[in-house]
Amino acid sequence: MSASTDYPSFLTPKVANENQSHDAAIVVFVLGGPGSGKGTQCQKIVEHFGFTHLGAGDLLQAEIDSGSENGAMIENFKKEGKIVPSEITVRLLQQAMQQSENKKFIIDGFPRNEENRAAFENIVGIEPEFVLFFECPEEVLTKRILNRNQGRVDDNVHTIPKRLKVYFEQTLPVIDHYSSKGKVQKVDAHRSVDEVFEGVKSIFCRLTK
Ligand code: ADP
Ligand code: C5P
Ligand code: MG
Repeated sequence: MSASTDYPSFLTPKVANENQSHDAAIVVFVLGGPGSGKGTQCQKIVEHFGFTHLGAGDLLQAEIDSGSENGAMIENFKKEGKIVPSEITVRLLQQAMQQSENKKFIIDGFPRNEENRAAFENIVGIEPEFVLFFECPEEVLTKRILNRNQGRVDDNVHTIPKRLKVYFEQTLPVIDHYSSKGKVQKVDAHRSVDEVFEGVKSIFCRLTK
C-alpha cells in the first residue's frame, strides 16, 4: 500500500502535528514473530537500560480486561490473530507515553503492519531510534507459543497459523521498510534467553548510551 488515498482519514498527514509533545522521547520498536521472545527480552532491557516497556498486545489486553466499549471487538481480533485498527492501538500507546515520567520507550509488537506504522508517524510523530528484530524459525515460534501456558485466547492451534500468516504477510514488510532506512538491528532469537540478551545488550550499549 503506497498511495495516501488508501489510508483511512485519520492517517492523513498533519501539516503541523500538535501532538508532538514527545520531541525528547526515545523510541525503540521491538519486532519478531509471535513467540520470538520480545516480551522476555524487553523485561531484561528495562532492568539493564532503564527503558519503559510498552507492549502493544499487553495494552490491548488491558482494554479487553477493563471491559471498555472496544474490549469485545479487540478480543475478537485477537482470537483471529488479526491486527486491531491502528487508531485504537496508537491512542493507547500515546496515552501510555504521555502518562510516563520516563522518556525512553521500548515498544514491543508494534508496528505490526503498514497502517500501524503510518498511524504512529501521523498521530505521535516520532521516528524510532532503531528497530530491534528477533529472527526465529517458524517451527520454534510455534513450539514456544504452545508451551507458553499463560491462558491466552490466541495461543492455540486454531490461531497460531493465522498469526504467523499475518506476521509474514504484514509485519515483515514493515521490517523491510526500516531495513531500507538502515534502522534494523537483527538478533538471532533461536538461542537461550541469556545468549539472546548478550546480543541485545551490545546493540543497546552501542546505540543508546
Ligand atoms: P513474544 O512476546 O515475542 O510473543 P515471549 O517473550 O512471550 O514472546 O516468549 C514466548 C515463550 O517462549 C514464553 O513462554 C517464553 O518463556 C519462551 N521464551 C522466550 N525466549 C526464549 C528463548 N530464548 N528460548 C526458549 N524459550 C524462550
Ligand atoms: O504482541 P502480542 O502477541 O501480545 O499480540 C497479541 C495480539 O494483539 C495480536 O495477535 C493482535 O491480535 C493484537 N495486536 C494488534 N496490533 C498490535 C499488537 C498486537 O492488533 N500492534
Ligand atoms: Mg509478547
